[in-house]
Amino acid sequence: MKLIIAVIRPEQLSDVLEALFRAEVRGLTISRVQGHGGEMEHVENYRGTTVKMALSEKVRLEIAVSEPFVRPAIDAIIEAARTGEVGDGKIMVLPIESIYRIRTGESDRDAVTPVPS
Ligand SMILES: Nc1ncnc2c1ncn2[C@@H]1O[C@H](COP(=O)(O)OP(=O)(O)OP(=O)(O)O)[C@@H](O)[C@H]1O
Ligand SMILES: [Mg+2]
Repeated sequence: MKLIIAVIRPEQLSDVLEALFRAEVRGLTISRVQGHGGEMEHVENYRGTTVKMALSEKVRLEIAVSEPFVRPAIDAIIEAARTGEVGDGKIMVLPIESIYRIRTGESDRDAVTPVPS
C-alpha cells in the first residue's frame, strides 16, 4: 500500500478527479494549501529590488491505494495535471504501514478496496 501525495494547480483539480475516477481510484482527501516550488518573487523596497520565495495556491491530494492502483493513479494525475508550465506540481509516494476502515474494523488491503454498495 502507498500514500500518494500530489500537489497540483487548483484549476486542474476537476480534470484530475475525473482521471482518477476513470482509473477506478476511490477514496481521497483534498486540502487547499500554499506552496513554494522554487519560483522567486521580486519585491521592491527603497534600497532596490530583493527576491523572496513566491507562494502560490495549490491543492493537495492524499490518496491511499493498494499496489495495483499505484501506477494507474500516478499516470492519471500526471496526464491530467500537466500544463507544461513551471509550477505544475509534484507527486510523492510513501509506504503505508497500515490502514483501517473505521466502520468495519477491516484493515490494510481490505480497507482501501472499494466496497460494492
Ligand atoms: N521539494 C518539495 N517539497 C514539498 N513540496 C514541494 C516541493 N516542491 C514542490 N512542492 C510543492 O509543489 C508545488 C508546485 O511545485 P512546482 O510545480 O513549482 O515544482 P517544481 O519542482 O519547481 O517544478 P517546475 O519546474 O515545474 O516548477 C509547490 O508550490 C509546493 O507546494
Ligand atoms: Mg517550480
